[in-house]
Amino acid sequence: MNFIKAAIFLVMFAFSLNLMEESTEQTIAESISKYHLEKLNSFEAKLLELQDLEQQNIPESDLKNSFLACRIAFKYVEFLVVYTDNFKNKNYNSPNVLSAYESNLESDVIAAHGLQVIEDLIYKPDKESRANLKQELVLLIKLVQEEIQISQSRKPENSHLFNTIVIDALRVEVYRLEALGITGFDGVRSKNSLAEAHANLESLKKVLSFYKALFVQNNKKALYSYGIKTTQKAINYLKKNQDFDKFNRLEFMDRHLHPLSSYLYTLTKELNYEFPSNKNAINREARYLFDPNSLNQLYFAPLQSEHSLAIGKKLFEEKLLSSNHTRACSSCHIKEYAFTDGLVKNLSIDGETSLLRNTPSLINVAYQTKFFYDSRSKKLETQVINVIHNDLEMGGNLSLIIDSLKQKPEYAELFKKAYVGEIDANKLATSIAEYIGTFTSRNSKLDQYFAGDKTALNQSEINGFNLFAGKAKCATCHFFPLFNGLVPPHYTDTESEILGVPKDKKNPSIIDSDVGRYGNTKLEIHQFAFKTPALRNIELSAPYMHNGVFASLEEVIDFYNKGGGKGQGMDLPSQSLDSEPLNLSEQEKSDLVNFLKALSDTSFLEK
Ligand code: HEC
Ligand code: HEC
Repeated sequence: MNFIKAAIFLVMFAFSLNLMEESTEQTIAESISKYHLEKLNSFEAKLLELQDLEQQNIPESDLKNSFLACRIAFKYVEFLVVYTDNFKNKNYNSPNVLSAYESNLESDVIAAHGLQVIEDLIYKPDKESRANLKQELVLLIKLVQEEIQISQSRKPENSHLFNTIVIDALRVEVYRLEALGITGFDGVRSKNSLAEAHANLESLKKVLSFYKALFVQNNKKALYSYGIKTTQKAINYLKKNQDFDKFNRLEFMDRHLHPLSSYLYTLTKELNYEFPSNKNAINREARYLFDPNSLNQLYFAPLQSEHSLAIGKKLFEEKLLSSNHTRACSSCHIKEYAFTDGLVKNLSIDGETSLLRNTPSLINVAYQTKFFYDSRSKKLETQVINVIHNDLEMGGNLSLIIDSLKQKPEYAELFKKAYVGEIDANKLATSIAEYIGTFTSRNSKLDQYFAGDKTALNQSEINGFNLFAGKAKCATCHFFPLFNGLVPPHYTDTESEILGVPKDKKNPSIIDSDVGRYGNTKLEIHQFAFKTPALRNIELSAPYMHNGVFASLEEVIDFYNKGGGKGQGMDLPSQSLDSEPLNLSEQEKSDLVNFLKALSDTSFLEK
């Protein structure tokens, strides 16, 4: 009898705990929604103030303070707005460049809108831009008002899910802050990104504070205090260090942002706020952006199985893949050169004419959503077939290749272990793609530094990192953590850029005739655009650029220091690289080179 009573009591107790938790979750969700709405309203108010000033015909230079206030107000709502806006950041704050849908139709070219467009109109006005400024303000205010309406009518039905998403959005925001925010990516002219980072973190701290009751209920008050303290320390650091060019990004990331994202990771586990991770580009099981597993392998690279990997490895060296049996993948993608070949351009299969482009590195190659310098291929497997067919590179005929592989007993054996059915092009491509998907590198001196070894980098390399991520603006295109064109914070797109790379370094104002991505899409906006390559192991892969025009990293940095092609007199209005000189001193240039060399990780040589 007593036993039954006790059991009933326990069930009731558990039930009421559950109810209690549910009502706490409900309160949290409501408080967050209310706070978000308040902050949306302040953002709207700041925009209306700017609009009001603009309508009084005040010159652009006097609109700057009001504009900066709008940006700060935006930073309070950014984490949720960016997260929910179809995983993009389209109309609030998109970079001021035209983009295009995958359809590649001229009619589908999309104009940019939002704060970065407004910034250019205010900071670099010309005679016609005032009308655009009016128009852009109207659009943005309308967007915010719509968001306010949606937020007012939204009542989170499943508050646990809502609260989970909020924490995930905060995690993504910390990544955004690290990879874009503090690099000045979205405020190139106003350079107010440190104050904006402060606003981001104030918002994060406030949102976190709404979870307090849940921590208390779960006996995790210490965990709560640790989170608030960690955020406050990051805020204090920003308060003390406000000079954009001198800001020590390495230290800030290492001591503040990484602990903060690690904390949010722990929180998701401890409070049962786990976010489904398998389909996302970001690996939610990693604690910080420079964790070697921060990107989700299964999202990018094909699933690897032992037997088909073995096939891929063998095929990578297989000369039967080329028309005259003289060349394998490894003839041009040589391991010791980070899978390049040390040449300006390799020779075509005929052995006489030159290839069109410099051989790119295959390090971390899978972690992109577009392949080749002109982004013409979207899948590693199709890319492989493309190379084999390519008349210049291998000139191979797939059905002949398959026939000859079938006749080799060692291949028949290997394929039988790995696959069901006959050898075919699909299996061949998958195996090679699996193999090149293993060419990863995430253990450079920089990674070791972030993993805890503070002696891994010397002072010049540290200075070089800080230049890379700050004054020299490199990280605004070569994004963390892979230093390639994979765009944070969602990592689902790979970008191309227009730099004005010259044909010949002696004539820096004459552009190389390769039209880049335009050749593939035929969209004007892609004239001379090239996919942003990855810089890990860059020391091993000279010469540089799609045409191999620069022999050394020093030459590359000189090119950037002078503002790319346009900065050196090239007629290239569409250049997306800022054409203002960087004004790097000799010491700064050499620090940058030293840092780039610290991105080497030759552990792949031993695989
Ligand atoms: C004759 C030299 C040569 C051979 C042989 C060769 N490649 Fe390449 N590879 C290149 C060049 C050059 C490019 C750049 C082409 C471009 O961007 O238009 C390239 C591009 C690539 C890319 C795209 C990299 C990126 O980041 O976009 C991959 C992947 C690749 N090759 C894999 C292979 C594989 C697999 C093989 C063997 C089946 C192979 N290559 C054979 C020269 C070669
Ligand atoms: C506007 C975007 C942008 C910025 C800013 C930028 N890069 Fe690049 N970077 C690119 C693109 C795109 C390429 C490839 C261009 C080509 O091949 O024509 C490239 C190529 C390179 C290469 C050669 C890679 C190879 O494999 O050949 C190096 C090295 C490099 N960048 C370093 C830097 C450094 C250092 C900085 C800062 C001083 C920097 N980049 C700033 C977009 C950018």
